[in-house]
Amino acid sequence: MSAAGAQRPRADAENPADVERLHRAIAREPLDPLEGRERAPWWVWATVAAALFWGGFYLGRYAPSFGTATHEAFAMRPGEAPPPAADAPEPGAAAPADGAQVYAQRCQSCHQANGEGMPPSFPPLVGSRWVTGAPEIPVRVVLAGLQGPIEVRGTTYQGAMPAWGPLLSDAEIAAVVSHVRALPGNGAPPVDAALVARLRGEGRTAPWTAAELEAATAGAAP
Ligand code: HEC
Repeated sequence: MSAAGAQRPRADAENPADVERLHRAIAREPLDPLEGRERAPWWVWATVAAALFWGGFYLGRYAPSFGTATHEAFAMRPGEAPPPAADAPEPGAAAPADGAQVYAQRCQSCHQANGEGMPPSFPPLVGSRWVTGAPEIPVRVVLAGLQGPIEVRGTTYQGAMPAWGPLLSDAEIAAVVSHVRALPGNGAPPVDAALVARLRGEGRTAPWTAAELEAATAGAAP
């Protein structure tokens, strides 16, 4: 029997293997990564972080608000009855209309409180020839909506303005159009509910395009 053998007895029935020593050696070995479960490389995390950051920035910059009022008018399909809006009287109802209040509820989320809009998504109502020109134009835009390219103050907008005809009374549309025509810097005369009633009577429900609006309002192109 050698000296080393005496110091460290071999494993046998009387001396079971030194379990701790055996495992220490195994624990020193780095594990082989499992097939398909390797760590994601750093650039994956960097890309995810960048995408989240950009998404948050985009929403903050372009999403007008998370209010539902913005989407009500889009929720209807042509020819469908409007959903009963808790805060909107029946179209045509002779409700006293407050243009500033209608504006705050129905327009502000996109066109902003000061009417400056949010280029390049939502056009300004201040300094817009569409607002201050012939009164038929803003009334028609509010009644049936507007889509396709338009140009306002040198910027081209390619958006969709919802139709408010089914949701707002003649008096409310007259009040809100008068309100935007009177915004500081616009100073255009008010419109009355009779004009709204007449244009509503034309029965147009599809959103206008710029060319159609100009044709319909011949001689008073914006
Ligand atoms: C969902 C967002 C949204 C809401 C709410 C909204 N608009 Fe618009 N509006 C637009 C967009 C987008 C355009 C541009 C449409 C296009 O590119 O053809 C527009 C265009 C217009 C225009 C013609 C262009 C201009 O800048 O002069 C007028 C007038 C207008 N809106 C008035 C109103 C009024 C009044 C209300 C409230 C009753 C209202 N809008 C509510 C999105 C909205």
